[in-house]
Amino acid sequence: MRNKNSILALALVALALAISGCSDLKHDLPSPVAPGVQVHRPSWVDTSSASFHGKVIRAANGDAQECLKCHGLNYQGGTSGVSCVACHQTAGASLHGRGWIDPLAQNFHGNTIRAATWDMRSCQTCHGPLYDGGKVGVSCRDCHRGGAGPENCATCHGSSNNAAPPRDLGKNTSRSARGVGAHQIHFLGSSIATSLLCSECHATPTAVYVVGHIDSTTGAEVRLSSLLANTVTNKPGTIDYDPELPTYTPSPSHSQAALTCSNTYCHGYFKNGNLTFAPTWNDTTGTQGSCGTCHGNTAAPLDTLGTRYLPKTASQGGTHPAVAGLGIRCNVCHAEVVDANFRIINPSKHVNGKLNVLGGERDW
Ligand code: HEC
Ligand code: HEC
Ligand code: HEC
Ligand code: HEC
Ligand code: HEC
Ligand code: HEC
Ligand code: HEC
Ligand code: HEC
Repeated sequence: MRNKNSILALALVALALAISGCSDLKHDLPSPVAPGVQVHRPSWVDTSSASFHGKVIRAANGDAQECLKCHGLNYQGGTSGVSCVACHQTAGASLHGRGWIDPLAQNFHGNTIRAATWDMRSCQTCHGPLYDGGKVGVSCRDCHRGGAGPENCATCHGSSNNAAPPRDLGKNTSRSARGVGAHQIHFLGSSIATSLLCSECHATPTAVYVVGHIDSTTGAEVRLSSLLANTVTNKPGTIDYDPELPTYTPSPSHSQAALTCSNTYCHGYFKNGNLTFAPTWNDTTGTQGSCGTCHGNTAAPLDTLGTRYLPKTASQGGTHPAVAGLGIRCNVCHAEVVDANFRIINPSKHVNGKLNVLGGERDW
């Protein structure tokens, strides 16, 4: 049985849908409207009706997210001016709908927060400023146990090990995913170099909702503004200065399109190094960290003297001593860093911005 009002309401809905042209709105609802305009059928609040909102939501697998567009992320009214809360307190009905704590459900709370550009501060209204229960007595910290509760640095990216991906923001864990890439090898360090802080490559936020962290541009900002990536070599006045070569001042950059890092000291932009080497962040071959990529020549044959790793000598326009011709290995002069089998014995002295040669550590 329809009365005039509900026919008018339906017409309004149809009109609004036609105007918005939006076919992906769930529950056949129009885009936000001003308070005072009726958008739902009267049966929407009639528990005995098939179109009662609780049933509609249950039929949509518990998905109440669309409602929040008009009723506010905090369920307190939003642009509609009608709060969900008071009724629900009286009825004792679950506000969030089914699937709210099921990570696989469309109505999972994490999805609601993502859709709100990762802003979960609306939850604090009921769950408390520290997310520890608030007036509704349900604490986020029962499940999000790390420091700062759900605002912990590893809630949205990273793992219980650290905040660096994996997992990335798309929940990917494979190294081939751009958000995952070579994070762990840089952050934890490897057999050839020690660990790097997030701040070597990013501006690191001190808390979730500070300016510059979650912003409107897609993806992470990679700044490479650290001292290490910008180490200048062949500086006039240093003991190894060679006036026939220029001073090398890196201008590190990350290409969002190609996912490569160029002009970094770390990967070869230094005196006698491989100036144009630009490793790919999400490469999975494992070859980009081998000897010869940053200095030397990976195409050269492996030999007992390590010519593959040797920085550019006079025959290649460089100035490194042509030691292969003299029949001696790297460890004779770089003993703090490398052994006779070309293994890095002290990663903290390799790729550290200093030259370790003949028993000394120095700027160069
Ligand atoms: C396009 C904006 C919009 C969306 C989306 C929306 N609502 Fe509403 N809702 C309103 C407006 C405006 C009112 C007040 C006028 C009215 O009752 O139609 C309202 C009123 C209500 C009422 C009170 C109705 C009454 O008669 O007392 C309930 C209950 C309600 N909405 C639930 C929901 C639920 C549940 C959803 C999601 C499935 C939802 N709304 C989605 C705009 C919206
Ligand atoms: C006019 C009072 C009223 C308003 C306003 C209202 N609800 Fe309800 N809602 C109810 C009642 C009553 C029930 C049914 C309780 C039951 O079945 O025991 C219910 C049921 C539900 C259910 C189903 C719960 C379940 O366990 O399956 C959901 C989800 C829901 N409402 C979401 C909302 C949302 C979201 C809003 C605001 C957009 C809202 N409601 C606004 C009264 C209201
Ligand atoms: C019943 C346990 C539980 C409670 C309570 C809980 N969460 Fe979660 N939350 C989870 C699970 C499980 C995940 C998914 C973790 C994953 O994907 O590895 C999650 C994920 C999240 C995410 C990340 C979303 C994403 O897509 O990566 C945020 C943000 C979040 N919760 C916020 C909150 C807030 C805020 C509260 C309290 C208002 C809360 N959670 C309460 C279990 C819970
Ligand atoms: C208007 C008050 C209110 C707001 C705002 C609110 N919640 Fe809740 N939440 C409740 C209440 C009440 C419960 C207790 C169970 C229920 O009613 O669903 C609850 C329960 C929960 C649970 C536990 C559900 C379960 O089945 O164990 C999680 C998780 C949760 N809320 C997450 C969130 C997140 C995330 C946000 C922000 C996006 C949020 N809540 C915003 C009132 C609120
Ligand atoms: C060696 C440089 C480097 C370090 C160190 C580093 N990152 Fe990244 N980070 C990147 C690059 C490169 C990307 C990919 C950027 C892109 O997609 O264009 C990235 C992307 C990200 C993303 C976005 C993931 C996504 O899904 O898009 C997050 C979040 C992130 N980093 C967090 C961190 C945190 C937290 C740390 C420290 C614990 C850290 N990073 C350390 C280089 C680094
Ligand atoms: C609510 C989810 C969430 C939480 C919690 C969170 N992050 Fe992020 N983080 C993001 C998102 C989303 C991005 C992608 C940034 C963008 O859109 O530019 C990001 C990016 C980053 C980046 C890459 C640089 C950038 O800003 O683009 C770093 C570093 C980072 N986060 C560190 C942290 C630290 C440290 C914490 C804890 C203080 C933290 N994050 C907590 C969601 C989160
Ligand atoms: C990621 C790029 C990179 C890779 C891969 C790399 N190096 Fe280096 N290497 C450097 C940089 C940068 C320097 C410059 C000095 C410094 O910062 O420690 C250097 C310097 C050296 C030195 C001179 C001693 C010193 O000061 O550190 C030796 C010897 C050396 N590398 C051997 C090796 C060997 C052997 C391998 C393979 C196991 C290797 N390198 C792989 C970047 C790399
Ligand atoms: C005879 C001593 C000697 C041996 C053996 C030696 N180096 Fe060096 N190395 C030096 C000196 C001296 C410098 C500084 C030269 C300069 O800057 O012109 C240097 C500098 C370097 C640098 C910094 C870039 C440069 O050329 O300034 C790297 C990288 C390096 N050596 C790697 C190696 C590797 C790898 C081996 C073995 C394949 C090796 N060296 C063998 C003496 C040696």
